[in-house]
Amino acid sequence: MKIAVVGGGSTYTPELVDGFARLGPMVTELVLIDPAAERLEIVGAFAARILSRYGHAAKIWWTSDLDAGVTDADVVLIQLRVGGQNARIQDETFPLECGCVGQETTGAGGLAKALRTVPIVLDVASVVRRRARPDAWIIDFTNPVGIVTRALLDEGHRAVGLCNVAIGFQRRFAGHLGVEPSQVTLEHVGLNHLTWERAAYVDGVDRLPDLLTSHLPELAAQVHLPEHLLTTLGNVPSYYLSYFYEHDRHVREAANGPTRGQRVAEMEATLLEMYRDVTLTEKPALLGQRGGAYYSEAAVGLIASLHGYDDNAVHSVNVRNQGTLPFLPDDAVIEVSARATAAGPTVLPINPLPPDLSGLVTHVWGYEELALDAALRGGRERVYRALLAHPLVGQHTQAADLADRLIASGRDHLAWA
Ligand code: G6P
Ligand code: MN
Repeated sequence: MKIAVVGGGSTYTPELVDGFARLGPMVTELVLIDPAAERLEIVGAFAARILSRYGHAAKIWWTSDLDAGVTDADVVLIQLRVGGQNARIQDETFPLECGCVGQETTGAGGLAKALRTVPIVLDVASVVRRRARPDAWIIDFTNPVGIVTRALLDEGHRAVGLCNVAIGFQRRFAGHLGVEPSQVTLEHVGLNHLTWERAAYVDGVDRLPDLLTSHLPELAAQVHLPEHLLTTLGNVPSYYLSYFYEHDRHVREAANGPTRGQRVAEMEATLLEMYRDVTLTEKPALLGQRGGAYYSEAAVGLIASLHGYDDNAVHSVNVRNQGTLPFLPDDAVIEVSARATAAGPTVLPINPLPPDLSGLVTHVWGYEELALDAALRGGRERVYRALLAHPLVGQHTQAADLADRLIASGRDHLAWA
């Protein structure tokens, strides 16, 4: 199996390669693709050292030529970041000036990211369509994953969106319960970065109620939310919900320090220095401070299932709704647990959502629809309307102000601005 990684020069890539080396005997060729040639050279050479330390037989190479890289690929993983950390830092900063949360995938920052990212990912996908194998899968890690996956599916690509939030919960719950992660099946539901864990089945028994009693302080601390909120909901929201449930706290705290993007930029500089060291053959511990824990496991597991390795595993994926959440249209993209086979993911049954969850999901779905329209067609009016629709914005003076700031800060990456 040939795997092409678009955005392969990312400092995250060693994590992915480590996963392929440990868990992916089916991988025979791995190509890292990135326009940043110098960085790609450093990451590529390090990735090759990781593979050889494991004695993995896959051929590995790297290139800035997208066409050549994806030719005949069976899987194309897209993990790019248009504008790098600098653009992210802008996304995390400009909304604060209007009293709104500054976050790379949530609120106005997430919209800015969607606007500059969707057209680029669609360009990449059109090359994949021409060059990769006809049955190739696109696995999208590029944020905002829900909106990007919707754009890919609307253009008829064979795409699945992936995020590591669910696998993180699965690993943590398994640890608390003293079982193997593969024994825990989550009822994970919502939209990307707007999800709740509503059940955790082990041998057919939902153990989440036990966990909410026996491990409440840890569970609440991990998602940066108060214990009583989890008890009231009777589920475990992802930490991205804290941007909704504790919006004002995030705005206040942002005044005191560097943004996440600034911290990540420093980490990346240090990581690249480490990767240059030709004696380094293992991913450094510092990489564990990035948010992407277990993302390699999520990718390898999903790729194996999509290629017919009958492991019966459940993955949390971004797929078309198709009636799963009856209050959303069939063509909406949702994030839920699914069993994947060579025919694609099949969503597991979901218990009906209570009105607080379905209401917020519907609200953010409406925003995402308008965000995608703005990303595809451009224009200040569409940006304004998407912001007006976002539950964390909503007021028209803020939406107007944010639209102007978003366009001004993102101009270099917006063809229409
Ligand atoms: C989590 C999210 C990813 C996001 C990452 C950010 O893993 O699921 O979608 O990209 O966090 O991590 P970072 O280290 O860049 O802040
Ligand atoms: Mn994610």
